[in-house]
Amino acid sequence: MLVVSLAGSPSQRSRSGVLLEFARQRLQQRGVEVVDYQVRDFAAEDLLFARFDSPLIQTLQAHVAQADGLLIATPVYKASFSGALKTLLDVLPERALEHKAVLPIATAGSSAHMLAVDYALKPVLAALKTQEIHQGVFAVDQQIAYADEGRPARLEPELEARLEQALEQFHAALARRPQPLDPALLPQRLSTARWSI
Ligand SMILES: Cc1cc2nc3c(=O)[nH]c(=O)nc-3n(C[C@H](O)[C@H](O)[C@H](O)COP(=O)(O)O)c2cc1C
Repeated sequence: MLVVSLAGSPSQRSRSGVLLEFARQRLQQRGVEVVDYQVRDFAAEDLLFARFDSPLIQTLQAHVAQADGLLIATPVYKASFSGALKTLLDVLPERALEHKAVLPIATAGSSAHMLAVDYALKPVLAALKTQEIHQGVFAVDQQIAYADEGRPARLEPELEARLEQALEQFHAALARRPQPLDPALLPQRLSTARWSI
């Protein structure tokens, strides 16, 4: 199973990034291969000018095409998901998320905008034809502590439990994902089939 993780915060030190990292590690413990991308990896001009032919954007597109699912993390910015993440989603092909499960992850300063994923991000994921958009995991800043003085980053137990539950469902969705038919397989099957009329 292959998952692409997209970190949508433009900040170097990122709480949504911490939550995403927890999710990534949990999936890896379940034997899932996770390929990481961060919006900060991309040249700003490539994103702003939607340079579909940028080598890194093409590599991302190829990984997304192979992936069974995506983890997409974002901070809430101005009651929506980050504009940087939008520029990245904009350079994916129209049906890029067809046959894929997506688990959205969002962090915010307060719970006032806890529905931002529902009213802002999910329509974009639907436009990309995501097969299965999961409920998602939302956290406020106080629930996530950065690593400091040798202590690793920490999540509040209630948040950790919600994340674990969401990942369990996400992992189950990855496992039952219908495998698209390999186009090379049909001619091969037809040529070796035994026919009777
Ligand atoms: C430009 C900007 C806009 C923000 N807008 C909101 C907002 O509308 N609602 C909210 O609850 N928090 C808002 N926040 C707080 C962030 O969502 C919050 O700190 C988040 O956890 C940051 O995630 P990050 O550390 O991954 O970048 C904003 C922060 C910034 C820098």
